[in-house]
Amino acid sequence: MSKIVNSWNDWDPLKRVIVGRADNSMIPPEEPATSEKVPVDSAMRGMWGPRPTETVEVANEKLDNLAKVLEDHGVVVDRPTPLQWNQHIQTPDFRNDSMMTCMPPRDILLTIGNEIMASANSFRCRYFEYLAYWPLMDQYFEEDPEFKWTQAPRPRLTDKSYKHNYYDEKITLEERLERTANKDFVTTEVEPMWDAADVMRMGKDLFIQHGLTTNRKAMEWFKRYYPDLRVHAVNFPGDPYPIHIDATFVPLHEGLIINNPHRPLPAEQRAIFEANDWQIVEAAKPAHDEPPALCYSSVWLSMNCLVLDPKTVICEASEVYQCEQMDKLGMNVIPVDFRDAYPFGGGLHCSTADVYREGTCQDYFPKQVKDPTLV
Ligand code: ALA
Repeated sequence: MSKIVNSWNDWDPLKRVIVGRADNSMIPPEEPATSEKVPVDSAMRGMWGPRPTETVEVANEKLDNLAKVLEDHGVVVDRPTPLQWNQHIQTPDFRNDSMMTCMPPRDILLTIGNEIMASANSFRCRYFEYLAYWPLMDQYFEEDPEFKWTQAPRPRLTDKSYKHNYYDEKITLEERLERTANKDFVTTEVEPMWDAADVMRMGKDLFIQHGLTTNRKAMEWFKRYYPDLRVHAVNFPGDPYPIHIDATFVPLHEGLIINNPHRPLPAEQRAIFEANDWQIVEAAKPAHDEPPALCYSSVWLSMNCLVLDPKTVICEASEVYQCEQMDKLGMNVIPVDFRDAYPFGGGLHCSTADVYREGTCQDYFPKQVKDPTLV
C-alpha cells in the first residue's frame, strides 16, 4: 500500500498526473449554459456533432506526446477511459442530446490534499463526464488507503439553474464586459455549481473565479466543506467569457503569479497578495491572433502552462513570447507542441489533473489583512 494522491498547489514537484484523451469528442448541442460559452463570432455556433476524426487523431497524438514528455521527466501518467460521448443523456430533470469529451480533466477533478473531488459542472453535457475518471479513482482507492474519493453535491440543472434570455447575439463587447463587471452570469444561485478549473489551489487558500461556470453558492459550499481553508472569490472584469481561472491568473511558484493583462485582478482584490509580498506579473502576449479552428478558448491559452516544479514549466512550443518570459522569470522551459489539442478543451494545464505533488499544506498568506475577496 502506498500514498498515491497528494497535491496542495500548482507548483510543488509533480510526480503523478492524469492526461486527458480526445477519443469520441463531441461538439455538444447548445443548452442554457453553453450558449454563452461559444463566442458569438465562432464558427462553432449552431454546430454540433462528432469532431472530425482526423482532428481527434492529431489531438490524441499531442496528448500522447505530452504524456511521454511527462514520463521522461519522471512523472507517472494516468489516462481516463473515454465513453461514447455521442450518447444522449437523461436525468429526472433534463435530457441532452450528447455529452462532450474527457480531454480536460482539470475541469472535472479537484485535488486538495489526499482528496480528489469530482465537480458540480453547470453544463448538462458534462453531467456524466466524471465516469471517464472512475476507473482511476477506483484504482487509487484500492491502492492508497488514505485517498478520499469524493463527488460534490450534484446539481439538478433544471431550467431554474440558468437565466433565460441571457444569451443575446446582439450584445456588444462593452455590454458583455459590463455584465462581467456586474457579476451578472448565465447561472443562477439556486444550487452550487462549479468547474474545478475555476479553483486555484494555494495551500491554505483557495482562489475561486466567479464567472460563467462557477457561482457564488459554490463558494459558500467550499467554505463549509473545507473549514480549515480560506476561500476567496475573485473575478476578472476584463474577461468577456469568464470561464476557468487558468488562462487568467497562473501561479508559477511561491510568490509569483502571471496575470492576463486584458483581465487584471482589480486593485481592491490585490490586498492579500500585496500584504504577503506576492508579485503579480503581466503575462506575455500570445503568439497567435486567433485560437485554432473549432476552439472554445481564447488565444490566452498561451499562459495555460503546466508547472513541473518551482523551476520547471511546460509551455506550448509556438508560444514564443510566453516561453521567453518564463525563461526571463527564471524558469527552465520545456516547450511542447500542443496547439492542435486546444479545440478539445484547452491547453497544457486544462488537459491535466494533479494526482501527486510533493509538499504539504502551507500558509502562503500568513499576514492577514482586510480582504474583500474572502468568502
Ligand atoms: N476560458 C479561458 C480562455 O479562453 C480558458 O481564456
